[in-house]
Amino acid sequence: MKDTFSRKINYMRISITDLCNLRCQYCMPAEGVYKKQHKDMISLDEIVEVVKAGAEEGITKIRITGGEPLVKKGIIELIEKINAIDGIKDIALTTNGLLLKSMGKDLKKAGLNRLNISIDSLKPNRYKEITRGGNVYEVLDGIQEVLRLNMKPIKLNVVVIGGYNEDELYDFASLTLKDAIDVRFIELMPIGEASNWSKERFISNEEVRKRIGNLIPLEREPSSPAQYFKLPNALGRVGFIDPISSHFCNSCNRIRLTSDGKLKPCLHSQQEVDVMDVIRNNSSDIKSKLKEAILLKPEKHYLYTDEHIIGNRNMSEIGG
Ligand code: GTP
Ligand code: 5AD
Ligand code: SF4
Repeated sequence: MKDTFSRKINYMRISITDLCNLRCQYCMPAEGVYKKQHKDMISLDEIVEVVKAGAEEGITKIRITGGEPLVKKGIIELIEKINAIDGIKDIALTTNGLLLKSMGKDLKKAGLNRLNISIDSLKPNRYKEITRGGNVYEVLDGIQEVLRLNMKPIKLNVVVIGGYNEDELYDFASLTLKDAIDVRFIELMPIGEASNWSKERFISNEEVRKRIGNLIPLEREPSSPAQYFKLPNALGRVGFIDPISSHFCNSCNRIRLTSDGKLKPCLHSQQEVDVMDVIRNNSSDIKSKLKEAILLKPEKHYLYTDEHIIGNRNMSEIGG
């Protein structure tokens, strides 16, 4: 399906839960999120219905996000079911990695290979501070486990935060020297908990590239939010996701489904289309809701302009 700006929408990001086993400071309040009633959340079977309808309308790629998707009961069966849907060629997962050590094998068996793992510090105390309690060794063990299982591609997401992890840029980049993984630096976005953070916390990726130095540019992949480089003789790549300084809206191919059953045409717009209501009443209308949401997709985001309205959702509900 094409939107009103002729962008082909073939990628659906699904937040299957807004709950998480961490409380990252930029993503969630310290007390966590208010647990919504079961009936107000989209069920895994309902998600499968939306993906089936999406596949008939040209969705080929699914990314499962959260909250933390691996805390959701039934995640393995969900992956198996989505994998079996005609037209879905690619299924991926974004996770904080804490549960990969124990779940890696089952995920692979269910047909998942593509993993993005969020990790914002390699220093145990600092990781514990930003995640409000996480143990970085569990994530590092999880990464080794999925490498051992030969799952690929594996991408590490690092949100760069001024005064916090800016002294670890080279440590992160050098992880690509010995393992065939991509390490991607993400510019901090003013959304949810981070919407009122001071400008000093924001460091542009141009600055990050300069500080790492010695990076060899690689060809840009269409529709990928990241621009990739390589350190000399590295096995993996170093990527930069610049949603703020050079947004990739003109090649955006995404639509999102929130854990409470709303289709969200754009990460940074408040527009939403309720799909849960039609699933529960007349599932043949799912496709028309998908079309409605895709046609509402804005041309670009309006962050840092007068047109931007700060949303009331945290990243944990939208899934990044
Ligand atoms: P692949 O390209 O499949 O690897 O996925 P991805 O990089 O889009 O997924 P991931 O979940 O790892 O997201 C990485 C970062 O990109 C997160 O900080 C997201 O919030 C950000 N991001 C992902 N999609 C969009 C988008 O459509 N718009 C904006 N502005 N940021 C996005
Ligand atoms: N700015 C940039 N990235 C963010 N993420 C969550 N919140 C923000 C934010 N405010 C990242 C997570 C995860 C990805 C899905 O989104 O760290 O890697
Ligand atoms: Fe797509 Fe909106 Fe993200 Fe731009 S801000 S890339 S339009 S989701």
